[in-house]
Amino acid sequence: VDRIGFIGLGLMGGPMAANVAHAGYRLAVYNRTVSKTAPLRELGAEVVSSPREVAENSAVVITALTDGGAVLEVLDGDAGLLAGASDGMVLIDMSTTGPEAALAIGRAAAAHGVKLLEAPVVGSVGPAREGTLGILVGGEREVFEAQRDLLGTMGAPNHIFYMGPQGTGAAAKLCINLMVAAQMVSLAEALTLAAKSGVDVQQMAEVVRASGISSRFLALKSEKLLQGDYEAAFPLEHMHKDLGLVVRAADTAEAAIPATAVIHQLYTAARAQGYGSQDFAALYRLMTQMAGLDA
Ligand SMILES: NC(=O)c1ccc[n+]([C@@H]2O[C@H](COP(=O)([O-])OP(=O)(O)OC[C@H]3O[C@@H](n4cnc5c(N)ncnc54)[C@H](OP(=O)(O)O)[C@@H]3O)[C@@H](O)[C@H]2O)c1
Repeated sequence: VDRIGFIGLGLMGGPMAANVAHAGYRLAVYNRTVSKTAPLRELGAEVVSSPREVAENSAVVITALTDGGAVLEVLDGDAGLLAGASDGMVLIDMSTTGPEAALAIGRAAAAHGVKLLEAPVVGSVGPAREGTLGILVGGEREVFEAQRDLLGTMGAPNHIFYMGPQGTGAAAKLCINLMVAAQMVSLAEALTLAAKSGVDVQQMAEVVRASGISSRFLALKSEKLLQGDYEAAFPLEHMHKDLGLVVRAADTAEAAIPATAVIHQLYTAARAQGYGSQDFAALYRLMTQMAGLDA
């Protein structure tokens, strides 16, 4: 089995890399904050001290980083990934970057003979741990087909989609997050209105769960936020970042998304209130605060 490199062992990358290791791939890992590499070392991964060392001797390198800027930083410079890459290496970037950055990353990679698959993921830390993420891939189809098994260690087989050429995977991911962000706002507004109307919010959440609009997402998030559990599965600041990408991509594509533009502002406000590092369910805290309630 060829060596696989993995860079970025955060909330998502950590469990994703663990699944690659569990599947029996030989793995070299790097994380800027070294302490996060410990669980991978225990699984037998080689821990190296730069992105360049990850790329050296790896046929494929996976990145799961904060955003496009972080990916470009990791690619760049003497200790950067591209400095250690050999011709024909495949880079699978699983970060949420947006189409513009995906194209820029693709160009930077191509200049070093590296093929990019952008492969952002759908689902949070639970599916990352279980290896049941959705994966939306943009890039060359043959490159994707050759990496399907590797992607299958992190994603559910029926949720791995080849979307088309570079940028389409990144754009599809933004479409999903647009909906997720809006669902959270609608849940937070509904529960706030319920509370202000003298309705028992726990019962209201039960009503939501029993209704046709229910989903795994609404069930999980309503439970968490009513317990006051805002430990980040998906930090609010990341959703805010993604909404910025959504608004920008819509601008570029000339697609008017007026409701999302307002929703973006709500996440901006929640971030300004200091909820950035909490789960994005903390949007509920903003809503209750605006309504003069305590959450
Ligand atoms: N969490 C979710 O539910 C979720 C769901 C779907 C998609 N995503 C997307 O997945 C990606 C990763 O998210 P996450 O939740 O795993 O975030 P995270 O826990 O904050 O991890 C971010 C990772 O990026 C690294 N990083 C950031 N900037 C860097 C730089 N300039 N140089 C080197 N390393 C850098 C961090 O290193 P350090 O450890 O040193 O900080 C860390 O390993 C994001 O694009 C996010 O939008 C997340």
